[in-house]
Amino acid sequence: MIDFNLTDEQKLIRDTAREFAKTHLAPGVIERDDKAIFPADQLKVMADLGFMGMMIPEKWGGSGIDTCSYVIALEEIAAVDASTAVIMSVNNSLVCQLLYDWGTDEQKKKYLIPLAKGENLGAYSLSEPQSGSDASNMRTYAERIGDHYVLNGTKNWVTNGQSSDVIIVFCLTAKGIGDKGISALIVEKGIKGLSIGKKENKLGIRGSDTCEIYLKDCQIPITNLIAEEGQGFKVALKALSGGRIGIASQALGIARAALNASVSYANDRHQFGRAIGEFGAIKNKIANMATEIDAARLLIWKAARLKDLGMPYIKEASMAKLYASGVAMRASTECVQIHGGYGYMQEYGVERLMRDAKITQIYEGTSEIQQLVIAKELLKNG
Ligand code: CAA
Repeated sequence: MIDFNLTDEQKLIRDTAREFAKTHLAPGVIERDDKAIFPADQLKVMADLGFMGMMIPEKWGGSGIDTCSYVIALEEIAAVDASTAVIMSVNNSLVCQLLYDWGTDEQKKKYLIPLAKGENLGAYSLSEPQSGSDASNMRTYAERIGDHYVLNGTKNWVTNGQSSDVIIVFCLTAKGIGDKGISALIVEKGIKGLSIGKKENKLGIRGSDTCEIYLKDCQIPITNLIAEEGQGFKVALKALSGGRIGIASQALGIARAALNASVSYANDRHQFGRAIGEFGAIKNKIANMATEIDAARLLIWKAARLKDLGMPYIKEASMAKLYASGVAMRASTECVQIHGGYGYMQEYGVERLMRDAKITQIYEGTSEIQQLVIAKELLKNG
């Protein structure tokens, strides 16, 4: 049997996230986007609500709920403020889940608990100037000397780069052996040699901070190595599979906001003596948006459910992200089209959806990388 009904707990989480987004995120969302203001106060409320470490057991500071509930909450947050949604997604999926899956008890005690409680914020740093999609082609290098590593390199496009307290940095600990030389280190903010570049001036998700980071002879204790030397690429990709479900939910929220704004405007706006929603051209756009949004949600829920069941979900996470990000882009573009000239104006809040949507086709693996992952999984399994 397939049951599409939410449990009472999931309904409560959805309603809580919706109410939070309406009360705390909607006010000022245009200004935060315009001036690229990080939502620090809003994140404190999210921490109190248990939204920063949702899938982490309570023992380790989290809320101990399932991935399905997490994606439901994330959709609600993203439908109002996609910048806050990515901050939440990175902390939950790429940092907390990674530490939970691979960290030692000591690492969990020291780093995961405050991150999952939302007292600290985490960042995940894989990309470098010369390696984006080709993620294993990194140069950042950690040389082991005694009981610590000496870490040197430049990483870029680090979400939460400025605001985070802890960064998971992927680097080489052995050269010339490809991805088998990659390791993952926990880097604390404020250590000597770590400097944070300027906040990038972005097309969208402008409330989140994205920065380069520079590592110059940073001394990292060997106890901050996650898993084993050489396992870093696996650690990175496993976290990214979960992360992609989160970004798909972010895209879904953006698409849903576009649909809601379109329906409302189509009913209100009159041209040629009728509400524009009475014209077939507008009806078709709205019908297509709604259909694609439902399809995206089903893909996301399927991937989340597989993850909760402990079953393989690499392909399904990539499918969800590939499809939902396309839906977000199409729905937000059509939303602006339906709004006509008003849609192009900042104060209507729909041009932001279009700008925010674009990144969902790029980060945590471009759409082309998702296609590569999906095809690879299919071909591998015959
Ligand atoms: N879980 C566990 N292990 C995994 C895995 C997963 N989901 N996916 C792959 N692996 C394992 C593989 O089994 C393999 O292990 P073995 O060598 O032992 O067999 C190893 O990891 C390497 O995997 P692949 O052989 O599949 O790697 P590849 O080199 O062929 O392909 C790639 C890799 C898919 C192209 C990868 O480089 C990739 O995903 N690139 C995109 C990078 C990306 O998404 N960057 C996002 C940056 S972070 C970000 O955007 C966050 C943000 O700010 C919001």
